[in-house]
Amino acid sequence: MSFRAALNIADLHRIAKKRLPRVAYEFLAGGVEDDVTLANNRAVFERIRFRPRTLVNVAARSQQVDIFGRTFNCPFGIAPTGAAGLYGFAADIALARAARDAGIPFVLSTASFEPLEKVAREAAGGALWFQLYMSKDRDAAKALVLRALEAGYEALVMTSDVVVQANREYNTRNGFTIPFRMNLSNMIDGALHPRWLCDVFLRTLFDSGVPRFRNLDTNTGGRIIAKPIEEFRTQRETLNWDDVRWLREIWPRKLYVKGVLRADDAQHAADSGADGIFISNHGGRQLDGAISPIEALPEIRAAAGRRLTLMVDSGFRRGSDIVKALALGADMVFVGRATLYGIAAGGEPGAAHAINILRTEIHRVMALLGCSSIRELTPDILACPDLALTPDAPAGEAISGRRVRAI
Ligand SMILES: Cc1cc2nc3c(=O)[nH]c(=O)nc-3n(C[C@H](O)[C@H](O)[C@H](O)COP(=O)(O)O)c2cc1C
Repeated sequence: MSFRAALNIADLHRIAKKRLPRVAYEFLAGGVEDDVTLANNRAVFERIRFRPRTLVNVAARSQQVDIFGRTFNCPFGIAPTGAAGLYGFAADIALARAARDAGIPFVLSTASFEPLEKVAREAAGGALWFQLYMSKDRDAAKALVLRALEAGYEALVMTSDVVVQANREYNTRNGFTIPFRMNLSNMIDGALHPRWLCDVFLRTLFDSGVPRFRNLDTNTGGRIIAKPIEEFRTQRETLNWDDVRWLREIWPRKLYVKGVLRADDAQHAADSGADGIFISNHGGRQLDGAISPIEALPEIRAAAGRRLTLMVDSGFRRGSDIVKALALGADMVFVGRATLYGIAAGGEPGAAHAINILRTEIHRVMALLGCSSIRELTPDILACPDLALTPDAPAGEAISGRRVRAI
């Protein structure tokens, strides 16, 4: 099946599953331990229902959003995903270009195979943000941050929820470890997926050699089959809010903390000088049993008021999911796997197709809700008995300018 025939993100997921070797597919689609959080990230949307308005003229509807004076064509962006080059040739560049062409932001992961400067060059003109896996070594962290600044990245997204490696048992079973080790079953698996082997793996090898985490340790080049990378990934246990304050001093543009799930931590982010947060459980890939960002959102919006811009990610697969988060007070939603499934199914055009599916779904859902603008998506259009919603409580003004309701 061609990606062009995919009617929704689940179709793209199915195509991606067929095309990828198991080791790559499970790293992409998997969660952590018993996948409790992964499943809840999807299930939570079913507990939220719509209360549509009817007989409203919605002919001139728009899904544009303004975040800090920048207008995006859709209320969602692409979340940072490390090792994306496993799923498509030069996947980060493809994702960044697809995002640019759609008029939405793209967040490049520290753990990309592409140098951040190259992505900035190849996707020039797009809204590029850089995600930071912060080393406890501040010199190394500063060098990376300054590279992102120099290359023109508009925002820095500091990931806070990877203090230690998650217990992703499928990675251990499949031999997907960092440093990466080839084993017989991986080789057979690769050979059984000839399209991926030629279009992704061998093409990458011939184009730029063994994949490396080029934004990590500048001394080693962060080869994925080299040892030093492990140190970078595991030495984050001491990170704390002082590090955010320190980043605030050296990074003059927008600063977001990613991985917040509590109102008190949102307050800490604001107190530390962050402009916003990503309410995220890392797509259910870190702490199994963690709540869904959707469950945290009402409490955080109420506490944050106008102090923070709220991004939300984890589990979004439908335009209607995105609409629900916006109605709960999110300023913008980010997707990780949805566009990666697009990349795996069809490269850059596949990612563009994924974006288009979500955009079209949002457009249709807004019409069916009787809403013409994102501003009209308020808790009032939702019914969700087990989330704390009080539609007409005193309102606060989000930094982005969108009227939000305190709950
Ligand atoms: C394959 C993969 C790699 C990821 N790598 C990173 C990363 O390098 N940095 C980061 O902050 N988040 C990373 N994430 C988490 C995403 O940024 C995002 O929080 C998550 O994918 C959202 O959930 P969703 O995939 O259900 O949309 C990764 C997610 C996936 C699926």
